[in-house]
Amino acid sequence: MRAFLSTLVLAAASTLVSAAPPATGVDGTAHDLSITGLNSVTMATRSCVFCHTVHNAGGGSGSKLIPAWNHTTTVSTFTMYNNTNHPGASLKGTVDSQPTGPSLACLSCHDGTVSVGSLLIAPSGGGNTTYISARGGVSPGTGRISSGAALIGTDLSNDHPVSITYQDNLDASLQPAASLSGVRLYPENVTGAKVQCSSCHDAHNFGSPGTTAPFLRVTMVGSFLCKSCHKK
Ligand code: HEC
Ligand code: HEC
Ligand code: HEC
Ligand code: HEC
Repeated sequence: MRAFLSTLVLAAASTLVSAAPPATGVDGTAHDLSITGLNSVTMATRSCVFCHTVHNAGGGSGSKLIPAWNHTTTVSTFTMYNNTNHPGASLKGTVDSQPTGPSLACLSCHDGTVSVGSLLIAPSGGGNTTYISARGGVSPGTGRISSGAALIGTDLSNDHPVSITYQDNLDASLQPAASLSGVRLYPENVTGAKVQCSSCHDAHNFGSPGTTAPFLRVTMVGSFLCKSCHKK
């Protein structure tokens, strides 16, 4: 059964690769939490399982945040970047009262309140809290991201707005939604769709240092990432 599941997951990986630009993949990155990864959580030999399961992704709140979501969803209360919480903001878009979709998925590890190994359906190879080689800001005791740059926390008022609608119809300084390339809105590139963490980041590809790292969809060189959405 395990081998069968792995085959399915590999099939998903090749679909992803064919649909995306040249991919460096999850393996070996900070998002590889398998036994051979940088933040080994269990004896699990699979890396996708820490975010996805192929079956029964139901159960647990927010289980449809991303395709086949397999991680415990944070229940923190977040301070959003919006015209009320961010002095000087003049957003035309509508900000959700709390993070939604892929942003809530990212924050389920990056707000630091949930163990990175806390899964809806655990892989074989041990409990969820055995950190074999925790690195960076991951606490070997709790398995939570507890320090360092990867700790985004629950105050998002000092981060780029997320879970906000893209209103190129109201804000003329935004590129036309339909013309966006590389970056992406959710569920698709149309006016009123949302900017999420994964609009700028691709959790699957670490990228190249100095250009598309860490996990960026397009290069930061020449502020290309920013100009992908902003005309200035
Ligand atoms: C650290 C978390 C994480 C890991 C590990 C991870 N994913 Fe994902 N995956 C996401 C998130 C978040 C999304 C939704 C956001 C997006 O579209 O990128 C997603 C979306 C996808 C999608 C849908 C893509 C699309 O364009 O709609 C596929 C297919 C996928 N993942 C496959 C995989 C495979 C295969 C692996 C293992 C090699 C994997 N993922 C590992 C977080 C992860
Ligand atoms: C299953 C838990 C988990 C999820 C879900 C997750 N991450 Fe991470 N992420 C990690 C861990 C663990 C690290 C490494 C932390 C460290 O080294 O201090 C990390 C590191 C990163 C880094 C920094 C990499 C580096 O080496 O500088 C970025 C950027 C990042 N994640 C973005 C995202 C985004 C965006 C999402 C959602 C699309 C996401 N992550 C979802 C666990 C997760
Ligand atoms: C508008 C684009 C954009 C959005 C939206 C965005 N990020 Fe980032 N993120 C970046 C860029 C660019 C960097 C690299 C910054 C640098 O190296 O100076 C980065 C860096 C990071 C890092 C690594 C921090 C470090 O200094 O190593 C993490 C972790 C991260 N982002 C997570 C997230 C999460 C979680 C969300 C959603 C709540 C998010 N990002 C939303 C563009 C974005
Ligand atoms: C995926 C599209 C996208 C990308 C990429 C992006 N932004 Fe944004 N950004 C937006 C949207 C949408 C808004 C909200 C605009 C509005 O509602 O008026 C916004 C808002 C902002 C604001 C706040 C403006 C205010 O009135 O408070 C700043 C500052 C900003 N972006 C800077 C950046 C920088 C710097 C980068 C590159 C690191 C970047 N953005 C990348 C879509 C994006």
